[in-house]
Amino acid sequence: MKVRPATPADAATIARIYSAGIEERVATFETRPRSAADVERWFDGVHPVVVVEDEDGVFAFASTSQYRQRECYAGIAEFSVYVAREARGRGAGHVAMNALIDSARAAGFWKLLSRVFVENEASRALLRSVGFREIGIYERHAQLDGVWRDVVIVERLL
Ligand SMILES: CC(C)(COP(=O)(O)OP(=O)(O)OC[C@H]1O[C@@H](n2cnc3c(N)ncnc32)[C@H](O)[C@@H]1OP(=O)(O)O)[C@@H](O)C(=O)NCCC(=O)NCCS
Repeated sequence: MKVRPATPADAATIARIYSAGIEERVATFETRPRSAADVERWFDGVHPVVVVEDEDGVFAFASTSQYRQRECYAGIAEFSVYVAREARGRGAGHVAMNALIDSARAAGFWKLLSRVFVENEASRALLRSVGFREIGIYERHAQLDGVWRDVVIVERLL
């Protein structure tokens, strides 16, 4: 497998992988499937996105996005990582996150952070293995399908 910076030409594939992840209900409070046009807006010239591919095409991505509008937080980015279901457990998440960490550092960010459902063992294991620290748990942070969910806050200094 190979990792590279994503381009807007990858938007439709990224949207497909992300929408499948949304549909699974294991990783995000989001419930609306994303279109290629939604994902094209991620390419703002500031926030890196990477994709992992093999000879059959792109099957994983990791992305950064704005954390807060306040200028003092400009060097902090939120991140996401999704691997197509059939390609999980083969190291793609690891490869994507390490590339995202390098790209975010090179782009001048000083910290990546996110929140992970406490039940999402795969994500928690992946993030620990690439140097993230679990800060604590936000209890009943929001509802997914009418059920209150707890999330672990994770961060990694770059
Ligand atoms: C979380 C996710 C990105 C992991 O990607 P992956 O390609 O399957 O993970 P990798 O094969 O690179 O494994 C990375 C590490 O996580 C561990 N891991 C992976 N799946 C696991 C599981 N189901 N349970 C426990 N540990 C797991 C691996 O053992 C590995 O640990 P190591 O580096 O110490 O050996 C993938 O499962 C996924 O896309 N899930 C749905 C979306 C999601 O949850 N995204 C994260 C949102 S915060």
